Amino acid sequence: MAQHTEDSIKRSVAPAIDPNILLNLYTHTRNYSLQLCQSLSEADIQAQSMSDASPLKWHLAHTSWAFETFVLKPFIADYQEFDTDYDYLFNSYYNAIGKQYPRAQRGLLTRPSYHQVLDYRLHVDQRMQSLLNQLKDDSLNKASLKPCIERILLAVNHEQQHQELMLTDIKHLFSFNPINPKLYVDNNNEVSANCEDKLIDSQQAASVCFQEGLYCIGHRDEAFHFDNEGPQHQYYLASFKLDSMLVSNADYSEFIDDGGYQNPLLWLSEAWQKINSEQIQKPLYWQKHQSTWFEFGLSGLKPLKPNAPLKHISFFEANAYANWKGKRLPTEQEWEVAARSQKPELKQMFNQLWQWTSSSYSPYPGFKPAHGAIGEYNGKFMLNQYVLRGGSVATPSGHIRPSYRNFFYADARWQYSGIRLAEDN
Ligand SMILES: [Fe+2]
Repeated sequence: MAQHTEDSIKRSVAPAIDPNILLNLYTHTRNYSLQLCQSLSEADIQAQSMSDASPLKWHLAHTSWAFETFVLKPFIADYQEFDTDYDYLFNSYYNAIGKQYPRAQRGLLTRPSYHQVLDYRLHVDQRMQSLLNQLKDDSLNKASLKPCIERILLAVNHEQQHQELMLTDIKHLFSFNPINPKLYVDNNNEVSANCEDKLIDSQQAASVCFQEGLYCIGHRDEAFHFDNEGPQHQYYLASFKLDSMLVSNADYSEFIDDGGYQNPLLWLSEAWQKINSEQIQKPLYWQKHQSTWFEFGLSGLKPLKPNAPLKHISFFEANAYANWKGKRLPTEQEWEVAARSQKPELKQMFNQLWQWTSSSYSPYPGFKPAHGAIGEYNGKFMLNQYVLRGGSVATPSGHIRPSYRNFFYADARWQYSGIRLAEDN
């Protein structure tokens, strides 16, 4: 049996980061959220398409609320809140902080206006910049700054997570409009660069083999990571094979043409109920016009690209497709081992599509949520969800890593999710 043990299994440690780099990271991240809204009207950023998605205006305010709540209030003694009502409006799910405005009704919050939310962001930015400049003072005890720097990094990464949601949520909203609005347009109404253009075509997949053994799973260096990526631990894997490529649109069309959505033997019981009660017979953004498939995207409605990787698929659909192929989804540990192997045959591993795994989102051995409200960030969602790995074209650059664990409910389709198949060796 192959051994893949590490010399030492370390607990995660907080990264040492230069305050100048942190200020740049903060400024870049905050600006990018506004850039995402550049081509949008006030009506666009107000509407909410479903309870899982939020208005972009709410994302802009909530991410500011996170800096206010988890950085400014605890670390600036005389900090004055911009508006005390915002704790109720823009708290997402932190019960230790207080009650929250109902998630499904966020689109009804026509006030504060977009301009008031921009003022809120400016208020937070000015105080954050002042705090970040104070951190540059060399006379300060570096160890005493660590909790503050950790919180700022967490809130920056939190905003980056919301930036991906802003893209998926506006796409979902626009998909309801029969005139097929485009997110990416410049002042002349020309379509500009679209993150979806970064998708790399799939080719014929090969099977890449991995040996059985004890592997090290979880975050293992000093860069930023979320608490759910640790503690690092050993995990035994039987030998397995992973497909070198993501499933393509053409691959999935064969499943549809073969009656995949009509074959109960391929579907989990809950999945079968779901696709029948909601009459799901195709991926979320596919449309058929005169026997030709089209796909709605951030640049409007386009003919379906057969070789592009299949996206916006639920765990239910991914699992049914794997059954139809006589294969299975990888576990999250298999995916991580493959990603760390850096085998050149493996393609489209990062920043293409989130890849569904067969792993339930649950705590790693020894996981303990942080004390206080911040402990609600990840740990309390470890029930009834599945792990996705690898990041997507909508994930901000620098935000993804091999240990990153995203998680969604099995029926969720509005994220940039795709399929990579595995099999026993
Ligand atoms: Fe959030």
